[in-house]
Amino acid sequence: MELKYKFPNDFWWGSASSGPQSEGTSIDDGKALNIWDYWYEKEPYRFFNEVGPSLTSDFYHKYKQDIKLMKEIGHNSFRFSISWSRLIPTENGKVNEKAKNFYNDVINELLANDIEPFINLYHFDMPLIMQDKGGWESRVVVNEYVKYARVCFELFSDRVKKWFTFNEPVVPVEGGYLYDFHYPNVVDFKRAVQVAYNTTIASAQAIKEFKSLNILNSKIGIILNLTPSYPRSNNPADLKAANIADLLFNRSFLDPCVMGKYPEELIKLVKEHNLLPDMIDRDLQLIKDNVVQFLGVNYYQPRRIKAKAFMPNPESPFMPDNFFDNYEMPGRKMNVSRGWEIYEKGVYDIMINLKDNYGNIESYISENGMGVQNEEQFIKDGMIDDSYRIDFLKGHLTWLHKSMDEGCNVKGYHMWTFIDNWSWSNAYKNRYGFIQLDLKTQKRIPKKSAYWIKEVVKNNGF
Ligand code: BG6
Repeated sequence: MELKYKFPNDFWWGSASSGPQSEGTSIDDGKALNIWDYWYEKEPYRFFNEVGPSLTSDFYHKYKQDIKLMKEIGHNSFRFSISWSRLIPTENGKVNEKAKNFYNDVINELLANDIEPFINLYHFDMPLIMQDKGGWESRVVVNEYVKYARVCFELFSDRVKKWFTFNEPVVPVEGGYLYDFHYPNVVDFKRAVQVAYNTTIASAQAIKEFKSLNILNSKIGIILNLTPSYPRSNNPADLKAANIADLLFNRSFLDPCVMGKYPEELIKLVKEHNLLPDMIDRDLQLIKDNVVQFLGVNYYQPRRIKAKAFMPNPESPFMPDNFFDNYEMPGRKMNVSRGWEIYEKGVYDIMINLKDNYGNIESYISENGMGVQNEEQFIKDGMIDDSYRIDFLKGHLTWLHKSMDEGCNVKGYHMWTFIDNWSWSNAYKNRYGFIQLDLKTQKRIPKKSAYWIKEVVKNNGF
């Protein structure tokens, strides 16, 4: 078959998922509460249709069935996360044997099916006991996280060769400390900066531990959601606003994690507004010495920015949005279910930026996907015809391919996600999977996109 877009033979094809969104059985088998279990207990009305994280797609019990399906649709790699509150449920640091067995079984099952496990250590799921100690605002919690990371490396790195310290560390900053969509629902820019800073320290410290173990043929990285900040126009005011958004939401993690230092402009901005976090002398050296060895890039939507139209209300909390307004570009293509713009070229722009400004670090698309509501309406002959998802995939893969043609160091593409999963406060509103989950019966039914990706992987292109 004549292929228009051919990918390298060792390209990582697969999908990504996370513990809290797929494992379910939140407090079975010795798992302790994390902030999602707790928040749902306290305020179930904050979750779509009041569906919480207790069952999700029950990966805890159905992982064998799911891994078999992954194999069937051609996965050669799969990223999931370890749930800290499952593995180490109490303050004494003791490992939960049932959790250890579960993760060992998942890893072994993946390997038996020739699917490489990529493990992420933290996917928005702070254990409640750690949140009670101050969460990411506290250095005590940073130290506990590093101990937990070391336990994971020691338990699983004989078989797991790709590790990540965090998934999208800026999201808990935005959700939990600025915009009220994660627990603990704080709205406070200064505290948000402290949380962001401490997360970076935690990541660097975990990388240091990892390196000290000299694990053969392995590497450790971080997964960042990079949302290119496109200015409305070339007007200097728009350019300035877009640059600040980029500094706050992309470069605040990208620069320290990949280049080992914060951008001067960001330091200046933070200082000027009295937002500087508490720091320890050796921190900056730690960051410098422990950059990531590869990078996962999550990409869903761009950020479009314009200069602020009005002076902010001096009585309302000081926020990142004091520096810019979001811009709704006329004619933009939307995924209306999620309210996110679809802009396929974003993937290319991100990769070119990594090539030109970040040493062409080895990277891959670690998440990209399309959450659609009421997908049952597209059922034809018992199968969801998600041709819109196939178009979405084609569009992004085409631009990714172009970036590779131009020398970007891209190693793979993981879709979000394998099976419809629980999407935080959106719960099961929008569906992302290659595989449909029937919530009532827990039945798994491949969608049209599952058959499409299977062919793509088989041919290494399309
Ligand atoms: C990413 C996260 O931000 O986007 C996932 O890593 C998340 O956990 C995904 O599910 C899609 O976003 P949402 O909010 O629609 O679930």
